[in-house]
Amino acid sequence: MQSITEIKSLRSQIKAWSQAGLSIALVPTMGNLHLGHFSLVEKAKMMADKVVVSIFVNPMQFGANEDLDNYPRTLDEDKRGLADLETDIVFTPSVETIYPNGLAAQSFVDVPDISLGYCGGSRPGHFRGVATVVTKLFNLVQPDYACFGEKDFQQLQVIKTMARDLSIPVEVIGVSTMREVSGLAMSSRNGYLSNEQKDSATALFKVLNNCAEQLKSGNTDFATLEETAKQSLQQAGLKPDYFSIAQRDTLKAATLDDNKFVILAAAYLGSVRLIDNLQVEV
Ligand code: PAF
Repeated sequence: MQSITEIKSLRSQIKAWSQAGLSIALVPTMGNLHLGHFSLVEKAKMMADKVVVSIFVNPMQFGANEDLDNYPRTLDEDKRGLADLETDIVFTPSVETIYPNGLAAQSFVDVPDISLGYCGGSRPGHFRGVATVVTKLFNLVQPDYACFGEKDFQQLQVIKTMARDLSIPVEVIGVSTMREVSGLAMSSRNGYLSNEQKDSATALFKVLNNCAEQLKSGNTDFATLEETAKQSLQQAGLKPDYFSIAQRDTLKAATLDDNKFVILAAAYLGSVRLIDNLQVEV
């Protein structure tokens, strides 16, 4: 596995691969890799001849009061895991490499509509930061495929929309959420939870499942389902941020005409913000 930090070296390897007619898949990450990330790498390996994994904790997608400084950084361990999977390149640029003129002077990519609400509502500017860094990574790596986890479902839809709107020649692939045996969606932020909190956190998946069962059994009283779910989360000790039943592809509020839904949820457990979702087709 090549470990690259500089854009020049990255571009020269990408150029050599393109000239040799090899396809490339990119897995953008912020590191602290777990089985969920590794499943993205496995998918990338299935899709393309060469796999690039980027590890970059992107300051542009963190709000002022968020966990940028404390975000878990485990680069050596991450690299070992990626080498075991025979990743071709791990790209670990510095903040200065990605934003040489600083964040204030940085051009950005905004994806309207689909970035609004849900996580975009609670974390203003978050999806601008994500869309901007992912556009830069797409331009640097010029991948044929890019793999993202479905756990961040709104992020996945934002990136798909952005690639389509800006005619970026990449196939954006969503990969199913990996879960603990308890059902808890794997996430780097789970590392902030105590064992006791991890037990409580499983309520999020349980409540999502209950709601999914209701939808499947024909209950279309979306507002009541959402309200009941929020109450269940509160009873389990979580503080709901949002719990919404949306149209799967547009993320607009679900209507009686829809049959492809995604139930999107975010809730706080202490200071840790957990997100999860379930897709339901009826
Ligand atoms: O999902 C993430 O880890 C990040 O949002 C991403 C896509 C790597 C962009 O920084």
